[in-house]
This record gives sequence, structure tokens and C-alpha cells, in this order.
Amino acid sequence: MVKFPKFKSRVFLAPMADITNIAFRILCKKYGVGLVSTELLSANAISRKNKAVMKLGLTDKKERPNVVQLFGQKNENMAEAAKLMQKNFDIIDLNFGCPSKKIMAQGSGGALMKRPSKIGEIVKAVKGAVKKPVSVKIRKGFDRKINAVEIAKICEENGVDMIIVHGRTIGQGYSGKADWEVIKNVKNAVKIPVVGNGDVIDGMSAKKMFEETGCDYMMVGRAAIGNPFIFKQINEYLKTGKMIEQTKEERIKDYFEYIDLARVYGIFNVLDARKKAQEFTKGFVGSSKLRKKLNRVKKWEEIEKLMKEI
Ligand SMILES: Cc1cc2nc3c(=O)[nH]c(=O)nc-3n(C[C@H](O)[C@H](O)[C@H](O)COP(=O)(O)O)c2cc1C
Repeated sequence: MVKFPKFKSRVFLAPMADITNIAFRILCKKYGVGLVSTELLSANAISRKNKAVMKLGLTDKKERPNVVQLFGQKNENMAEAAKLMQKNFDIIDLNFGCPSKKIMAQGSGGALMKRPSKIGEIVKAVKGAVKKPVSVKIRKGFDRKINAVEIAKICEENGVDMIIVHGRTIGQGYSGKADWEVIKNVKNAVKIPVVGNGDVIDGMSAKKMFEETGCDYMMVGRAAIGNPFIFKQINEYLKTGKMIEQTKEERIKDYFEYIDLARVYGIFNVLDARKKAQEFTKGFVGSSKLRKKLNRVKKWEEIEKLMKEI
């Protein structure tokens, strides 16, 4: 049996493209997240040691325990990429749930939900190549056919160590309500740990998901965008039943901390700084006006001024 790292919280950060970079992950760590993940990275590109993708796989011991998420469709490339990344990551996660047309056109991500035996082959190849725990992130099913339980069992038979279930089908994308029943069904069908995912937005929904599905851990995605504080809020609620809030000033401080971290890790760019400014101020009074102003500026100094004024 492989050994999992110790998780300080049962609440994890979900992998999100263009969001969960090293700077954001470290900020979530400050707020007590149990585990952080890179966005999906191309196994084909990693196996060719593509520079741009390797940069997305940048990590630091400060963020551990951490996950690298890989997507691909070739057994040998998935295994090779996992082998190359295992040194700096505690868990290798395989993406079988991305609904993006570009990814699915290659037969990767969510397209594999239609090919359970191929998923089994990939899992087996990756497990055979690495010493670290391997997880899979799956969805409820592809479209009308709900096969999360079937796929979870195949993954378990092929040695997977943990299963993350997003309770929507590929066809649903991000719309509609996540089905937590399917998470419960997967949990009841396998012996390995199950991570529930979909529509956890605060302490109350987190508690409800644990109670209703019996999942071992959970992942928060969209509700964490621009709001790394959510992990402290959920952890506190799970511990005490109390709902704590962050002030506007603290949120803005987090934004500037994100910018500082982005500079430290060499990933700062104005477009991202602008997008993050919009994300970190979402829901503030006057945020739609600010959004418009931000859309018109092109220099960091202008973004900084707007964020200091708010
Ligand atoms: C902007 C964005 C990017 C995402 N990128 C990824 C990704 O790279 N890999 C992945 O497995 N899921 C990705 N997801 C899906 C999330 O990890 C998560 O499964 C989904 O948002 C449902 O959780 P939530 O209801 O807490 O948001 C992404 C979601 C969003 C909104």
C-alpha cells in the first residue's frame, strides 16, 4: 500500500485551469486547505519536457502536500509524465472529467468516461510507473449513461489509491446542480478514499456533503476563486458550527499577497493581475463599476491604484 501524506484538513482545493497556480495554492495553504492541486497539465507535453507546461508544474515545498493533475490518452505518455513529476508532488491525479472540446477532441479528459476499460489501462500503466499515490478525477457519467460507479471500481481494481467524483455529467459541463447521490454510491462501492466535489460553497454545504455522501474528503472549486479564505471559513464551521467572515480590507490584502507571490514565482503578468483583481473583488459593493474600469486599464500601476482606492 502506498502512503498518503498527512492532510491537515479534509477540505481540498479543486484543480482549476488559469486559477490554481503556485501563488494561489500557497495563499490557500495559509488558510488551512488540506491539499492543493495544479491545473490539468498535458502528459504528452510533459513527456516531451515542453517548457511552458513545465512552468505550470512549478512547485515549492511550502505548498505540500500537493497534487499534479495530468491529462492525456496515451498510456506510455501518462506513465512517463507521472514518473517525471513524482519527485515534487505527493499525489499524481489523472483527469478523466474535463468537458473542454479541445481536450476531448484528443480523446482525453471527459472523453475517456466513454471508455472505462481504457481508463483502467491508463491507471495500470501509471501505477506501474510511480511510487506515489495515484488518484483519478471522474464525473458522474458522460451523458445520459451514469457510469461513475463502474469506472470507480475499474480504477480500484487497477490499483488507484483515491477517487475524486464531480457529481455532474460531462454533458452538463458546469450547469445544473451537482448530484451528491452518485458520490455516495461511489463511496459505498469502493474501499479506497473518496473525495466529493460539486457545489460546496461554504461551511454549511461542506457539512451537508460529508453527512449526505459519507465521502472522506471534499474539493472546493469555484467558491474558492478569488476567495482563498473559504478554507478557513469551512474548517472553522466544521469544527465549531460558527460562520466567520473576512473583511473587505483583508480580502484586498490577500490580493496583494497573491501578486507578491506571483512575482516571487516568476508568474506575474498584467492580464492575470487584472483577472485576479476582478475575482478578488467579486460581490463587493461597486464591483461591477470596478470591473469596467479594470477592463480599460493596461498597466500594473493602474490596477494597483484602483485596488488601493476601493
Ligand atoms: C475555471 C475552471 C477551471 C477548471 N479547471 C479544471 C482542471 O484543470 N482540472 C479539473 O479536473 N477540473 C477543472 N475544473 C473543475 C473543478 O475542479 C470542479 O470539479 C468543478 O468546478 C466543480 O466543483 P465546484 O462546484 O466546487 O466548482 C475547473 C473548473 C473551473 C470553474
